[in-house]
Formats: sequence, C-alpha cells, structure tokens
Amino acid sequence: MLFAKNLTKSYNEVKALSNVNLSIQKGELYGMLGPNGAGKTTTISILSSLLKPDEGEIFYEDKNLYQNLAECKKLIGVVPQKIALYEDLTASENLKFWGTMYGIKGQSLQKKCDELLDFLGLSDRKNHKIKTYSGGMKRRINIAAALLHNPKIVFMDEPTVGIDPQSRNLIFEVIEELHLRGLTMIYTTHYMEEAERLCDRIGIIDEGRIIAEGSLDELKADSSLKEEIHLKYSNPNQSGLDPLTDRYKGQLLINEDHLILSSSKANAELPGLIQLCSKCELLLDKIDIRSLSLESVFLELTGKSLRD
Ligand SMILES: Nc1ncnc2c1ncn2[C@@H]1O[C@H](COP(=O)(O)OP(=O)(O)OP(=O)(O)O)[C@@H](O)[C@H]1O
Ligand SMILES: [Mg+2]
Repeated sequence: MLFAKNLTKSYNEVKALSNVNLSIQKGELYGMLGPNGAGKTTTISILSSLLKPDEGEIFYEDKNLYQNLAECKKLIGVVPQKIALYEDLTASENLKFWGTMYGIKGQSLQKKCDELLDFLGLSDRKNHKIKTYSGGMKRRINIAAALLHNPKIVFMDEPTVGIDPQSRNLIFEVIEELHLRGLTMIYTTHYMEEAERLCDRIGIIDEGRIIAEGSLDELKADSSLKEEIHLKYSNPNQSGLDPLTDRYKGQLLINEDHLILSSSKANAELPGLIQLCSKCELLLDKIDIRSLSLESVFLELTGKSLRD
C-alpha cells in the first residue's frame, strides 16, 4: 500500500530524519513509537505530501507520490497532532467545511457527515460549537474530518494526547473498528500501551531513525532481555539511588514507588539487586518477576524511558 525509501529531512542544522524506510501492507495498523522530537510528525508530513523530503522516494500502490500527487492525495487522510477545527463553528459545520475542501457536496456530504458523527458517537452534539467540546470530543471530530473522503490510508499523529482515559478508550474503539474494516493506518504515539494494544507492527523511532521494527512478539524475541523484576518500595526517596542507576544503566526504570529491572535471567540478578537496594536503604514491600514489556525493550534500544 505504501512504500517509502531513504527519507531524509533536515530543518537547517537539525537533522529530523535519516534514511527512514517504510513498507506498509494494505489493512495494516503500523505504530510509530518514539519520544518527543523523534521525527514522527516530520515522517507523517512527508508521507502525506505536506512537506518535501531532502531525499527519498514514496510510492502508494506503485505510484510515485510526487509524480501522481492529485491521485495519491485522494488515498490519504491525516489526523494532525494539532487539532485543526474552527472553535466558533459547530461540529457539523466543521465537517462540512472540510468535506467541501475535499470536493464533496450536497446530499452525499450531509450523509457522510451524519454517518461519521454517528460513528464517532457525537450525533447528539453535532449542532454545538466546538468551543463547548471537551478535549476528547475535539479529538474525535479531528478524526472524523480525516475520514470524510473515504481515504484508503490514514495517518494518525498522536490522536489521544492530552485527554482523559475514558475518551482515550473511545478513540481506541474507533481505531479498532476502522482496523477491522480494513483501513490501512499509521499511528504515532509516545505511549507504550497504545502501541502494544493497537498495532500489528511497531517501528521504534529515535533521533530521526527507525532503530527497530516488528510485531510486539518479534521485538521482544529480538531483545537480549527476557524478564523484568518489579520491585515495590515504601520510601520513595529517589535521591540516593546512584548505586542502582550506575550498576544497571539502560536496564532500570525508576518510578515513584517501584522500579523495574529488565534482565536476561531475573533469578540470577535478584540477590545482587536486593543487596544494592539495601545499600540504598530502600524498604522493600513486594518483588515479582514478570515477562518482558515493550517499555524495557524501548529502554534497551534507546537508553531512554518513554514515560511522561
Ligand atoms: N519547522 C521546524 N523547524 C525546525 N525544526 C523542526 C521543525 N519541525 C520539527 N523540527 C525538529 O525536528 C525534529 C523532529 O521533530 P518532529 O516534530 O518530527 O518530532 P515528533 O516525533 O513528532 O515529536 P513530538 O512527539 O514532540 O510531536 C525535532 O528535533 C524538532 O525540534
Ligand atoms: Mg509530533
């Protein structure tokens, strides 16, 4: 469905993308997981023709994007990271405005708007101005606007940022339904659990490069790590944890009341870990060994934690 080769882009001296290659199958839901500034929005802007790469080629179903721009653009829907709606227009008016931009008119536009408002669960609020909407409702209308022209591939750029868990779940359900209907999607996020829950395949992007790619199981299997030790403590004083962080660089995630150590052999690691915890004067409440998570794989690959 989509094939991109060697995408490279700099903004003056900032290298935003370096040799990004992507091959997305029809019906696939591909997740692009990366921290702030990794290059997710730049990738989506280039793939959707909003931004020209310095180098690289893009094909939609064997058609070169720039040589078949009008035709390819009809295939593409974009849910932008920044909500693109008019606050003083109603939801219905916003969708009609965007529909007109795509050249949809009259009865078919009305029908499509109503159908999407129903699909996104906002029919009862369709005549209310966007400025009266919650963040999650605005995000849903932002998604509807990208679907008006029946695109074959939709880019969703962090569609759940800044909303409450219930709204986030509603959006997940919408995306899962679109996936079931066979829509091809590229979904960017810096939330591990979203990539884990939604995506068929995940590309981990950091500093403008895709550094690993595969299904969740493949990413875990490729890692040298196998398990995680979860250790809960009741004195969350993080000032004195240097012995632990020095010893377990790139393996340790520290949270307010627990830490997670990823390891190739948790049992063997346990005595040393407990000894260091005691050196750091941590009062241990609970220890358990779990299977490897995407978060540990991400930490191993990038040296970074993705948590907010
Ligand atoms: N218009 C611009 N001018 C200059 N630098 C830019 C511009 N847009 C992005 N950048 C830089 O390019 C890099 C990639 O940015 P991009 O917005 O693609 O990342 P992102 O993964 O979408 O991040 P976020 O999670 O914050 O949305 C960053 O270093 C960013 O500062
Ligand atoms: Mg972005």
